[in-house]
Amino acid sequence: MIAESVSGQQSVHEAHGGVVPELASRRHLEVLPLQVSELLAGAGIDRIGEIGVFAATAGPGLVGSLLVGLSWTKAAAWSTGGRFLGINHLAAHLHTHYEGPPSVEFPAAALLVSGGHTCLFGMSSWSDIRLEGSTRDDAAGEAFDKTAKIMGLGYPGGRLLDLAADHGDPYAVRLPVPLGDPDLPEFSFSGLKTAVRLQWEAGAGLDDIAASFRRIVVDILVSKLLRLARRTSARSVLVAGGVSANRLLREELGVRCGRAGLRLHLPPVDHATDNAVMVGRAAAAVLDADPSASSPTTCNAFARWADDRLVALCD
Ligand code: KG4
Ligand code: ZN
Repeated sequence: MIAESVSGQQSVHEAHGGVVPELASRRHLEVLPLQVSELLAGAGIDRIGEIGVFAATAGPGLVGSLLVGLSWTKAAAWSTGGRFLGINHLAAHLHTHYEGPPSVEFPAAALLVSGGHTCLFGMSSWSDIRLEGSTRDDAAGEAFDKTAKIMGLGYPGGRLLDLAADHGDPYAVRLPVPLGDPDLPEFSFSGLKTAVRLQWEAGAGLDDIAASFRRIVVDILVSKLLRLARRTSARSVLVAGGVSANRLLREELGVRCGRAGLRLHLPPVDHATDNAVMVGRAAAAVLDADPSASSPTTCNAFARWADDRLVALCD
């Protein structure tokens, strides 16, 4: 990695209590050209034509925003004679841990926990990633954000709820443990959010609710991940996505993977949430496997991913 840059939009959306898609797309259009120029200057790259391969996220995600990045990147590749790779966002999160072919010990069990997804994957290599199960309703990050919003914590609430939880008693508030069976590789978080609302309206304290909620979500995530690891005789465990910044999750994973003799790969906190480095690493993995790989210029943005195999390169 030579240089990276992340442009957040919190100031645009916080007044609305969540991302407004139309505003997000427009902001991307305004920010992107300037950000690229600054990044290239910082990296000591004089001309964009020095770049051979351009990669951008194709999906899943908010299509309006994705189209801005995708169209810009295709145009950059086309106009400079470079190559273009469309990258799957979920695969990109997992590739946070890609540092060249031998860095992860396979087979591996992987947990992707973000604002839009909660998925368990079994991996026998970087090019063989199969979905074992996902959430039936809300994603874990979404549950964190909605729970925070119920208690008026602000946006985005996941990190704020994590901070508040440090001051509470994790056993003070009774909350359900939805789909708690560790053998079932599926999740459900929407009922938990409703239970939080009832407890909050009944007068339970914010810090105690935050701590109890965090304990239950973390326990569900870690138990199911480790059970999958055992069932698939995994040697290592990969965790990625915005929620992997959660401090209790990181702590519990450290303890329980250590006890189970599993090698744990956690992203640094500043690379847990969305960033471009993970997209670059996914592109590097694609090219390591096939040096002539590329996506067609017809590669389109997409909102949802529903498949049982996760592939980094989109067509
Ligand atoms: O991966 P990401 O940046 O974007 C998506 O692809 O969704 O994940 C964002 C999610 C948000 O829901 C945010 O609240 C959550 O990650 N998040 C956290 C923490 N930091 C970010 N959730 C719990 N604890 C945190 N410390
Ligand atoms: Zn993400």
